[in-house]
Amino acid sequence: MTTGPILFFDSGVGGLSIVAPARALLPTAPFVYAADSAGFPYGTKSETEIAARVPVLLGRLAERYRPSLIVIACNTASTIALPVVRAALDLPVVGTVPAIRPAALLSRTRTIGVLGTQATVRQAYVDDLAARFAGDCSVLRHGSAELVELAEAALHGRDVAPERYAAVLEGLFGQPGGERIDVIVNACTHFPLVEAELAAAAPGVRFVDGGPGIARRIAHLTAGAVWPESPAPGTAVFTRLGEDERALAPALAARGFAQLEQL
Ligand code: DGL
Repeated sequence: MTTGPILFFDSGVGGLSIVAPARALLPTAPFVYAADSAGFPYGTKSETEIAARVPVLLGRLAERYRPSLIVIACNTASTIALPVVRAALDLPVVGTVPAIRPAALLSRTRTIGVLGTQATVRQAYVDDLAARFAGDCSVLRHGSAELVELAEAALHGRDVAPERYAAVLEGLFGQPGGERIDVIVNACTHFPLVEAELAAAAPGVRFVDGGPGIARRIAHLTAGAVWPESPAPGTAVFTRLGEDERALAPALAARGFAQLEQL
C-alpha cells in the first residue's frame, strides 16, 4: 500500500513555489494542491480571521484527501496559525516562515529586505527571526498586497508591466538605509513565482525564499513513505471554483495538477 498524498495549502497560487522544489526531491509522490480562493487574499485579513479559518479548512481537506503530511505553503497562514493547526490535526504539518536566516548568511552589507504580505511583516514571529538570526543586520520590511495580485496575474497568463515590480520594490529601497539592501527575502510564497521579474527590477540584489528548505524538510519527514512507481495526475482543489480558478488550468497542469475540484 502506498502512502497518502502530500497536501499543499495556500490562499492562491503561491504554494506552487513550494511544490516545485518538493517535486524535484519527490518525483513520484502524490501531491494535492489546495487554494482557499474564496478566502483570498490572506495578507489583508486580521490575525483572528486567519487563525479561525485555516484550521477548519485544513480539517475538511484532511478528511477528504487523507494526506500523510500537510504543508502550509503560505507565510501569512504559517506565521499566524501554525500552532492552532498543529493542535487541531493529528498529522505532521510543515509551515513556511520567512527565510531570514539564509538571507543573513548571504548579506555583505548587513542590510536585508523582507518582502511579504502586510499581515506577515507585522508578526512578532518576524521580530523573533530577525533577532535570532540577523541580530547584526538592519532588517527592513515591506508588506505588499499588490505583489500578490501581480503574481496571480502572471500565473493567469496576463501581462504585467515591469515598472509595477519596480514600484513595489521601492517600498523597501525607498526606506531610510534601503539603498544598502543586498538580499531580499521573498516572505510570501507568491513572490518566488515572479522572482525573475523582481530580479530584473533590482540588479545586483539576491532573492531568497524558504522553498528549498521546506522541500528538504518534507523529504526528511516522508523518508519512510512508499510512493508509487510513476507519478499520477495530481488534484488541485479550490474553496471557490469559478472562471478565474478554471483559467489557471494550464499553469496547474504544467505543474502536474490535471484535475480541478471544489471543496
Ligand atoms: N501566499 C501567501 C503568503 O505566503 C499569501 C498571499 C495572500 O493571500 O495575501 O503569505
